[in-house]
Amino acid sequence: MKSVVVTRPGVIVLEDRAQPVPGPGEVRIRVEQAGICGSDVHIAHGSNPFAHYPRVIGHEFFGRVDAAGDGVSLPLGVRVVVDPVVSCGHCYPCSVGRANVCANLQVIGVHRDGGFSEFCCVPAGNAHRLPDSIGDEQATLIEPFSVAANITDHTGVFAADVALVYGAGPIGLTIVQVLKSVYGVRWLIVTDRIDQRLAAARANGADLTLNTGRESLADALAAGGSAPTLVIDAACHPAILGEAIEIASPAARIGIMGFSGAPSSVIQQKITSKELSIHSSRLNSQKFAKVIDWVAAGRLHPEWLISHRFPLADFASAFDVFEHNQTECCKVLLSF
Ligand code: NAI
Ligand code: MN
Ligand code: ZN
Repeated sequence: MKSVVVTRPGVIVLEDRAQPVPGPGEVRIRVEQAGICGSDVHIAHGSNPFAHYPRVIGHEFFGRVDAAGDGVSLPLGVRVVVDPVVSCGHCYPCSVGRANVCANLQVIGVHRDGGFSEFCCVPAGNAHRLPDSIGDEQATLIEPFSVAANITDHTGVFAADVALVYGAGPIGLTIVQVLKSVYGVRWLIVTDRIDQRLAAARANGADLTLNTGRESLADALAAGGSAPTLVIDAACHPAILGEAIEIASPAARIGIMGFSGAPSSVIQQKITSKELSIHSSRLNSQKFAKVIDWVAAGRLHPEWLISHRFPLADFASAFDVFEHNQTECCKVLLSF
């Protein structure tokens, strides 16, 4: 089988590998489509601290069950999407429903071989069956929406919220759709530095967009007359948290999801005097069923995020576009 392998930082190749055999409790998936994510690029460059090499990357993928190990009841041939979070089930985070930060966390495509491969074995519990009403491309992009579902569950969302999302990349846009189409927030502001991405934010439901490369967020908020009651940082520059704390309404919630190792400067007085709640979110814990329901009900449109499609053989072009053309690019799909 063909697999996209990062053999060592900086070297990414299409390799012929032996087809994996599902162990007890596992299914083998014949992958049909996969989505490229920023973290795949980080692994390719050696800047993901959790990855070991060589590694088959890919954690956003869809396919059909093609073989099953002992004790698996999923029928062969069913369409599934894979939750990349593999957890132990017995540590403290697992015991409180936070399997995404399991003490023994194994993310498919990061800690273990992933879905940019013609076949991939995963625990059967990570393979979610799909209703026929969800298309193949929609299914492929369930994972980034699970990230949005996770952070919005942590922050809570109210219809009365004035929400501010920093960053209109793929993740920012999944959050925009969830805030607007699922929760119907009253007013949704999105910032970015790239006009094309802001146009995408409007197309996905934002009420107001600001290019903060040339427009002042503080001025726009002052003109609008209401401070954000919910702020989500999907741009993840370390300077953003301090600004979010500054501009947030009293009693606001702030959601962060960045992995920068650089410090953020924050002022406790601003947090406490406004009694702000700051929530972090990593990947997702058990959000696939919820996102599948939202997509099946027509409340989310993952297909709106697709900007490019490539066959597996052209994976190098796919990565090149994804990495170097942020103005044109959102989700890039590989088909197998
Ligand atoms: P991306 O890099 O495609 O998008 C980030 C966007 O933020 C870009 O459009 C950029 O122009 C914009 N931006 C940069 N600085 C900004 C600023 N100061 N103000 C406003 N916009 C700014 O990345 P993607 O894939 O959308 O992911 C967003 C972030 O979320 C990344 O940092 C990624 O590491 C993180 N992430 C976290 C996850 C989690 O579970 N915690 C999961 C997935 C991604
Ligand atoms: Mn991802
Ligand atoms: Zn655990």
